This record gives sequence, C-alpha cells and structure tokens, in this order.
Amino acid sequence: MLRTHTCGELNMKAVGQTVTLSGWVHKSRDFGGMTFIDLRDRYGITQLSFNEESGDMLEQARKLGREFVVQVTGEVIERSNKNLKIPTGEIEIKVTALNILNASKTPPFTIEDETDGGEELRMKYRYLDLRRKPVRENMLLRSRVNLEVRKYLSEQGFVDVETPYLIKSTPEGARDFVVPSRMNQGQFYALPQSPQTFKQLLMVSGLDKYYQIVKCFRDEDLRADRQPEFTQIDCEMSFVEQEDILNTFEGMLKHILKEVNGVEIDTVPRMTYDDAIKQYGSDKPDIRFEMKFGELNEVAKNKGFNVFDSQELVVGIAAPGCADYTRKQVDALIDFVKRPQVGANGLVWAKYNEDGTFKSSVDKFYSQEDLAEWANVLGANPGDLMLVMAGDANKTRTALNVLRLEMGERLGLRDPKVYAPLWVLDFPLLEWDEETERYHAMHHPFTSPKPEDMHMLETDPGKVRANAYDIVLNGSEIGGGSIRIHDKEVQKRMFTLLGFSDEEAKNQFGFLMDAFQYGAPPHGGIAFGFDRLVALLGGQESIRDFIAFPKNNAGRDVMIDGPSEISEEQLNELGLKLDFSNDE
Ligand code: AMO
Repeated sequence: MLRTHTCGELNMKAVGQTVTLSGWVHKSRDFGGMTFIDLRDRYGITQLSFNEESGDMLEQARKLGREFVVQVTGEVIERSNKNLKIPTGEIEIKVTALNILNASKTPPFTIEDETDGGEELRMKYRYLDLRRKPVRENMLLRSRVNLEVRKYLSEQGFVDVETPYLIKSTPEGARDFVVPSRMNQGQFYALPQSPQTFKQLLMVSGLDKYYQIVKCFRDEDLRADRQPEFTQIDCEMSFVEQEDILNTFEGMLKHILKEVNGVEIDTVPRMTYDDAIKQYGSDKPDIRFEMKFGELNEVAKNKGFNVFDSQELVVGIAAPGCADYTRKQVDALIDFVKRPQVGANGLVWAKYNEDGTFKSSVDKFYSQEDLAEWANVLGANPGDLMLVMAGDANKTRTALNVLRLEMGERLGLRDPKVYAPLWVLDFPLLEWDEETERYHAMHHPFTSPKPEDMHMLETDPGKVRANAYDIVLNGSEIGGGSIRIHDKEVQKRMFTLLGFSDEEAKNQFGFLMDAFQYGAPPHGGIAFGFDRLVALLGGQESIRDFIAFPKNNAGRDVMIDGPSEISEEQLNELGLKLDFSNDE
C-alpha cells in the first residue's frame, strides 16, 4: 500500500505516530519559511507542514502545483491553528519524506465545493468534477442506496436476474435506441426501454420474485429528471395482488429512508388518480403541503361574470398568509401563469383580509358574501390569498398545478429534507390520443383492467380503470407498476383495443403470448426510477449530478464526444451504406 492511513481519518489520538499518506494537492499556502499543503483523497483533507528543517523538501513542496499526486511520510502533530470544521482539523503531518507520484496540469476549474466551472466545462472534465466533494458524495449516496435496496430485496427472497440489452422493441411508449446487426444485415436490435417482457417471462419460468438494478434506454426529450439511459430498480412477483406489491415496496422505501437518511415514515398514504387530478391537478402531487384545489363552479358561475360563466371549470387555491401581497406581487403571479409554459388565460385573485373582509379583482361581480363562499370552498383563512382560474378542465387544472407548486416554493413549503411519499392508485387503463385518434395503454399493454370494470372494455374503454399504481415522492414520480394480464384471451382483447392486428401482436409480442399458454401465474410488479430516488434522497430534483457520466440536454456525452460518426468501413460491415468506390 502506498499509504498507512487515508486523508480523512487522523485526529488527536494519532499524535506522535509516523504515518504515510497519498493524495492530491488540494491547496498550498506558502509563508516563506513555512509551507502548508492540504492533501485530499476520497475520505477527506489532511494538512501537511514543511519548514526550514525540511531542507530541500521545502523547496520541492513550494513547487507542487494543484492536483499533483504525492506520497508523504511524517509525524502527526497537534496543530497550533485548529480548524474544527473538519475531522482532521486538529492535527497536521510534519513531513519527513515527500515523493511526487505524478504531476498535473492546472485543472480547468477549481476543485472546490463551489467551483468556478460552468456546467459544460464540468461535464467535459467530469473525472475532475467527480473529485469535488458534493459530486463525490452523490456517488457514495448512490452506492449506499444500491446496497440497501439489495439488502432489503434479498432479505425478502428476491433473486437478481440479468436480462439482455440487445433485444426487440419494448412497449413502454418512448422511441427505441436501435443497434444494427452485422450478422443479420438490414436488421436491428432495440435497447430495452425496460426489462418488462423479460421479467414477465421469468414469472412464467417460476422464479417467483425477481429484481434487477438495470439500465434502461429511452430516446425521448430530456428534462432535469430524465436521461436517455437511466437506471431502474425493476421488480416482479408471482401469486400476488396489488396490496402485496404496495406493502412490499412501501417497505423498501421505508427501509431506504431509514437506513440512508435516518428518516422514519408512517404508512404511505394512498390516493386515487381521479382524486389526485381533482385536488392537485396532477397525477404526482407534492403532498408536503396542503393548498388543495377547490372547485368553484357552483358558487362563482352565473353571477354576471362572463369570463367564468362560459368556462367548463372554475377552480382555485388559497395561498396561506399571502393576503398582504402588493399589486406588483399579484401582477407578477398573473404574468407567471400567462407564460406559454403555464398557458393560463388569466388569474382572478381575492384577498381574505385579517379583519374578515374581502378585496378582489372581481369586486364588481362578487359580493362579500360570495367571496366568503369561495373562502369556504377553498378552505381559506383570514390572511390568505385566493387564486382562481377558469377554462377547459384539464388545461386549467394543469396550469393551477404549476401555480400551486410555485406558491409552495415561494412559501418555503417544499423543504427537500421533508419526505412525503404517496401511492397514486386506479389509473385509467387507456388514454385517448387526439393525434392518432386511438387509445394508448396508459402504462403498458400488459397492465390488467380492474375485474369490476372488465365489462366496459369494449363498450366504454375510456372509463376502465387499471390495476396500476405509481409511487410519488415530493411531487416526483419515483416508480410505477401494475398487476399484469396473465390470461391469453384478455391479452388478445387488449391488443385489439389498442389497434394491433393479430399479425402485429404476434410479430411484436408473439413470444409472450406463446409463453402464456404454458401456465402463466398471476403476477405483477413495479419499477423505481433509481436516479430519481437517489437525487431526492440527496435533496435535489435534477438527476444529472447523481449519475457519474450523464448526457447533456442534447443527449450528448461531451466528455467522450458521443454520439459520433463511424467509419465507412464500419457502415459497410453493418450493411448501412453501400460502397460504390470499386464500381466502374
Ligand atoms: P415506467 O415507464 O413508469 O415503468 O418507469 C418506471 C420509473 O422509471 C423512471 N423513469 C426515468 N428516470 C430517468 N430518466 C428517464 N428517461 C425515465 N423514464 C422513466 C421513473 C418511472 O416511474 N416496465 C414498467 C414498470 C412496471 O410496470 O413494472 C416501467 O418501465 O421514475
């Protein structure tokens, strides 16, 4: 070993010991006759000291640049100038031997918690970015969560089975990344959007409880919580009902929160999809704070205010303690909701003053009694600001959801250290797609309809609810799953409903339909978005800094500069381009 200790472990107990440390030169301070160097490794920082007694070594130490890799031997001594903020801050190493293991160019940005490097530069030199403590800690967190997931699931009897990456198109609804096949020219593998079909086949195989922490690939537009390759904690169980899955994975989330973040939570509350949409305008409500929607159709329509009368839905929220908002602040909110990203037509406001009176932007149309009724529906208290929108039900709810989250943010109600998980249940089975004028599976085509809704499958498909569930944490969808169809005939009806011809269904999923003829057990499962889960446990919403080597918003890895063109030769080998160069 090139060291006896790490840079994070020595303290007053070690005073008097001779030790050897190795690491990177984090910082150096030169005071003429004395030079101090902060030596850094994964575990921490230890101060090294050189003085005139060090002879030639003092000169050498002075010349060390940032990020040089060195090995030192010396005595642990008590520091005169202590830094109680770090565990090693009471001691330093009086160096007696210095060995330069490697030189370093000056890094393009400072290796500090708050760096001067911008996003693009940090990504280009991600290996240096990963030397910074906050990013490194994210990686350590990720590894800890991974371990706790494995501990919990193996304790519960789950087996880790790997499924292939070179497969045929999967049904998760995004675009596939495809890989050309050299040996089967003109044909392509697809990278899995998830191991969905394979995990179902493993249930037919009798594996009973499967899990995998697995890469998935989806060619979709990127956002802060989406990457083209991301990781799932993918799970499937046989002989279970929805309740068993909810209990098992609620247990997993509780275990992780306790072991990793030291947070204990009660049972995870449950809400139906319909209620989530009505009360929060979203299928992934952030329930760290209340501010639930109140529907005002009954009390706000037909009072002579045309803007409301003609609309499908009048709906509002009460922002606690905001009745003292100035004109300017209210106007800023109106501008906020009118931005194209939010898309509201406008915003009506009504202040519920501390003295019990009301002042609103629609005083001409609504009496104090009318506004008191609004307050009643919205659960507003004196001192609150009521914010109301009207329009097409879906669009208005979506816009009010954005405003609710914004108000929650402004009021400091979205503390990243508070964890509020939620099960959202009873999703619709199908979703109508305006563009293609067809139903799509809301989750995926293997999700089972609720038995009590089966009779509407052909007559009123839009009303059929699924045995499907999502788990939401702090307003972010961290997982989703369903009880599957295990009956070949039901699966056939489902494919028909989704507009697959027999031929198409056979082509795409024939292997699964075949497998279902050999005794498929009732089964169901779930997949968690591992990157999202880890990011939230780290108190952030963007997943990028929780992935060692992420892609940028254009789907590029700017460090390796991929994707890239490939040579004519490779293209020819793959049969992707004909080579006419030898043709005369
Ligand atoms: P679903 O498509 O809901 O379900 O995915 C499960 C979870 O994966 C996460 N996720 C993503 N994370 C980062 N980047 C992405 N591009 C991305 N896409 C999805 C989300 C999501 O909740 N096979 C089913 C699961 C099942 O039915 O068992 C599936 O993949 O957190």
